[in-house]
Amino acid sequence: MPAVRVSDLHRTAFITGASTGLGQAFAEMLLRDGVRVWGTSRHAARLDPLAARYGTQFTAVALDLRQGAHAAAVFREAEAIAGGFDLVINNAGYGVFADFVATDFSVWEEQLEVMLINTARMTHVAMGGMRERNRGALVNISSLAAEFPLPFQSAYNIAKAGLSALNESLMVEFAGSNVVILDVQPGDYRTDFEGSVVRPAAAAASPRLDRAWKAFAAMMQGGPPPAAAAAALRQALLRNRSGTVRMGRFFQAVLAPFLTRFGSQALVRRIQATYFDVS
Ligand SMILES: NC(=O)c1ccc[n+]([C@@H]2O[C@H](COP(=O)([O-])OP(=O)(O)OC[C@H]3O[C@@H](n4cnc5c(N)ncnc54)[C@H](OP(=O)(O)O)[C@@H]3O)[C@@H](O)[C@H]2O)c1
Repeated sequence: MPAVRVSDLHRTAFITGASTGLGQAFAEMLLRDGVRVWGTSRHAARLDPLAARYGTQFTAVALDLRQGAHAAAVFREAEAIAGGFDLVINNAGYGVFADFVATDFSVWEEQLEVMLINTARMTHVAMGGMRERNRGALVNISSLAAEFPLPFQSAYNIAKAGLSALNESLMVEFAGSNVVILDVQPGDYRTDFEGSVVRPAAAAASPRLDRAWKAFAAMMQGGPPPAAAAAALRQALLRNRSGTVRMGRFFQAVLAPFLTRFGSQALVRRIQATYFDVS
């Protein structure tokens, strides 16, 4: 019988960055579908609204991806209590908007640590249990930026391209098993992301950066609400098949990838430069 609720496939889920934005919407969608959810934030109190609404069906977990080994240990502890996670969603992330060369490398290093190295580490620890049980689903939240790099967000682009490459690698490694891997690439959604982007002071000084920032902010504010991304993820989970899931506005998620498949990388660069007013 085909699954009609996510809980028909997955009883338990672990999701990073559940305090706001897409992560919160994903958590709510799963909770409404009857899944028991463990959700993380750096500050567990930020998860109080979910805990208040869903009671014991939701467990708040404090986790900071800047501390990779600790984050993995926190995951293992939660996994032991849950009796294994059927679904793991690596969603937490943030942006840094700045000139690559003018910004201290430690800023980029930290972002890569959080969004690539330690997200890969969380994937590594999550896949152990799934391989052993030969079932489950891994969802890594990448971005359309993996294919269409965002100006002045170099480490973000590296992290998302790397994460999508990891997802592709795992799809090959787990082919023929009952483990599903989803490479989720959202376009712009109206979340707190734009508000939580780190902008070192020097970034405001350049007119080109300023124009690119205004275009980026306008795009984020004009995007669909996070609930729309949650509905798209729900459909993908119910299909229960590994693959790439592009989601968002028609132009970003359907038309642009279709057009560039027949064009060149130079065309992608031109589209991006025009889109962000930096040509
Ligand atoms: N919004 C979009 O248009 C869009 C498009 C493509 C991809 N994405 C991706 O979707 C994911 C969610 O983005 P969003 O738009 O929902 O952003 P958001 O509203 O800013 O939420 C980000 C989440 O990540 C958590 N987080 C940030 N830094 C963390 C760290 N060091 N350790 C652990 N958790 C951390 C935050 O938790 P606390 O602050 O509570 O700790 C928060 O829950 C990100 O990976 C983002 O790159 C978003």
